[in-house]
Amino acid sequence: MDKKEKQLRIGLAGLGNVGAGVYKNLEKNKSLLCERTGTELVVKKVAVRDLNRKRDVTVPSEKLTTDWKELINDPEIDIIVELIGGVDEAHELIVAALNANKAVVTGNKAVLAEKGKELIELSEKQNSPLYCEAAVAGGIPIIKAVKEALIGNRITSIFGIINGTSNYILTRMTSAGITFQEALEEATQKGFAEADPSLDINGWDAGHKAIILGWLSYGHWLRPEEVSVNGIEDISLDDVSFANDLGYEIKLLGVIRQAEGDERIEVRVSPTLIPKGHILSSVDGVFNAVAVHGDVVGETLFYGSGAGQDATSSAVISDLADAAENIHNDVGCTGFVPKGDFGTVLPLDETLSQYYLRLSVADRPGVLAQIADITGKNNVGILSVIQPEPASSSKHIPLVLLLHDASYGTVQNALSAILGLESVETKHTLLRVETLKS
Ligand code: HSE
Repeated sequence: MDKKEKQLRIGLAGLGNVGAGVYKNLEKNKSLLCERTGTELVVKKVAVRDLNRKRDVTVPSEKLTTDWKELINDPEIDIIVELIGGVDEAHELIVAALNANKAVVTGNKAVLAEKGKELIELSEKQNSPLYCEAAVAGGIPIIKAVKEALIGNRITSIFGIINGTSNYILTRMTSAGITFQEALEEATQKGFAEADPSLDINGWDAGHKAIILGWLSYGHWLRPEEVSVNGIEDISLDDVSFANDLGYEIKLLGVIRQAEGDERIEVRVSPTLIPKGHILSSVDGVFNAVAVHGDVVGETLFYGSGAGQDATSSAVISDLADAAENIHNDVGCTGFVPKGDFGTVLPLDETLSQYYLRLSVADRPGVLAQIADITGKNNVGILSVIQPEPASSSKHIPLVLLLHDASYGTVQNALSAILGLESVETKHTLLRVETLKS
């Protein structure tokens, strides 16, 4: 960039919800940003799929193109903002931008989770930075927090509510007693859920974010197939209600953790019972929150809007401001991102937690004793039991067990023996319970 001009010339690829927010908010806070960064942040060109689509923002037609390669090939453009989403084309675009020695900002968690290792290596090789604040928890500055503010810490654990749509659905099931399907329809009507909400409800939007946090915390890119991800689609109102009776709320929780003295990394996402007294249990609606524990700082908590046009564009703009500073000072890749590929994966069977187990059992004497015998033989303790009085003379009744800390593998062994009992139906629900102690 020509320093005298003090301009950062931006090529914006994608003018959907977040792209339009970036364009709108760069205009809105233009003078503020210029005053703070000493640089004018100028969108020079915008790549869109459809020139005629009606949009939230008006972009002069001479800035629009349907070919993102024009942005890469424009020697005046300093930085590419990738907001086209998806994996393959976004990957091609980011690789082309880095190879053209342009800095890149992306909010694309899927492409980072799938190709992050390769992209970061390319970024370092080219000395062209790749920024990704918007990829995790929307407007919450969690990337900067983990990679900069908490640099002096070994990260003990991160517990995150990092998907707003599923948090909205679970909150409505809990507070209004509506079903999963009703809550999903409500989220869609209010514009919270994506047109295709499958990645939100099957847990993978949060899974992608957890992979990125795992990399930032421990310097290791887990492959998606190494991460255990479960969504919220099978959570029933009965589970919400039993969890409530036991003193818990169900949240879709990302866990990123490394035990002291163990190089193995645990990264997983699942609907999880968390204690009602814990501050994360009161994170409701579309909000996100991330609790990071570091060995020096102790407990920290980051809360805010994890999605949406304005919140997410705030994160993109913060990356653009960093880029303006770096480019202006002729600095390439900076910041304290891990430079190697450290650590290994803790196998799922060895991950520890407490568990909530809802069974459907025959209503006759001795069944609870049979089940307790199996958990005892597998060395899994029972913390509490709920067996509601049968409302009618049904043959099967629910039996809910809260199980002590145990490895997932051990609990699976006990569960398959329990489900083999003639008195127990195979339909069941097994959920993790996290005490959220670091
Ligand atoms: N759809 C996501 C959410 C936001 O509901 O949190 C983008 O990752």
